[in-house]
Amino acid sequence: MPAETSQPVTAPLTSAAIFLVVTLKPGAQHAAAVRALCADLAALVRGVGFRAPNGQLSCVVGFGSDVWERIFAAPRPKELHPFRDINGVHRAAATPGDMLLHIRAERMDLCFELATQIMLRIDGAVSVADETHGFGYFDQRDVLGFVDGTENPVGQSAMDATIIGQEDAAFAGGSYVIVQKYLHDLKRWNAVPVEEQERIVGRTKLSDIELDETVKPTSAHNALTSIVEDGRDVEILRHNMPFGEFGKGEFGTYFIGYARSPGTIEQMLRNMFVGKPPGNYDRLLDFSRAVTGTLFFVPSAAWLENAAAQARPASAVGGSGAAGDTAAESVPGAAVSYGSLGIGSLQQEAKHE
Ligand code: HEM
Repeated sequence: MPAETSQPVTAPLTSAAIFLVVTLKPGAQHAAAVRALCADLAALVRGVGFRAPNGQLSCVVGFGSDVWERIFAAPRPKELHPFRDINGVHRAAATPGDMLLHIRAERMDLCFELATQIMLRIDGAVSVADETHGFGYFDQRDVLGFVDGTENPVGQSAMDATIIGQEDAAFAGGSYVIVQKYLHDLKRWNAVPVEEQERIVGRTKLSDIELDETVKPTSAHNALTSIVEDGRDVEILRHNMPFGEFGKGEFGTYFIGYARSPGTIEQMLRNMFVGKPPGNYDRLLDFSRAVTGTLFFVPSAAWLENAAAQARPASAVGGSGAAGDTAAESVPGAAVSYGSLGIGSLQQEAKHE
């Protein structure tokens, strides 16, 4: 599957990101608004991103299991299912979310502008379940002080780890993504001696070097999240970002993991929360609480562009919309204002390229 047909799942880590998890309101017209956004998303990213060529603006959109049939006519991706609660030593709970927008750029203004344009398109169709603004923190560190992302696969390995191939041919080029928002108890964490913190993570704090196998506990975070099948590493791609708000007293890590199969991330989560073997759990969780948990399917970019064409006719959507709704007549956009710089006209040109 050529890279250009996928959404920018493997785009590099940036210094700013907005994570938006939204739920879709009942009504065929709202599903139609989301479909219309899908078809136009690439043009919106071009319109905003072209103004700052070095800004590395990108957006990945994913959809939850519960709304798949409401939005799309196509059969569902083979492994799409709701996030499943894990009740181990600690708890990973499923929380609401029908659609994920993962917006990344080198500058927060780009992320914010794209989020604005996207939310205008689906204004009234969705409710925001969670919104997190992430920032780059020194040399790619999380607020626990450790470098986060070192062992991510790169290049072809990142593609192989995340992009679906012939195992689900109808959805080749797609990907799965799990997000979890973790809140850290920083006061308690910072009271733990650095050597102990290093044994919890499995790497040195300042220099970010993996601990030697002879001293690394089997409960270390990087030990429990290493999955080996048939002698080879099964990897995922993480784009975690720190976030924080003093007023709320909330400081955390937004975990976002992309994988070719959600089973890989789910196995890592079981190892962390239940333990491997059970009871040998991830001590990071004694200081970090998962307050959200949602699973999404990320269709390929080509599939998204065709989303409107693939749409189920409104009459077959289940009649939950107002009388007279059709996918075609309820597509928003014409009535939307794109701001004083006239981005709307740029989009129209881009769409007809
Ligand atoms: C509190 C939330 C989390 C924090 C602060 C965190 C932090 C870290 C850090 C500092 C590393 C070592 C550097 C690196 O290789 O990136 C790491 C590695 C890793 N983490 Fe996490 N992580 C969190 C949650 C998760 C979750 C939920 C998963 C998967 C379900 C996960 C999967 C991984 C993987 C696969 C590695 C690389 C392991 C290796 O091969 O060395 N992490 N994480």
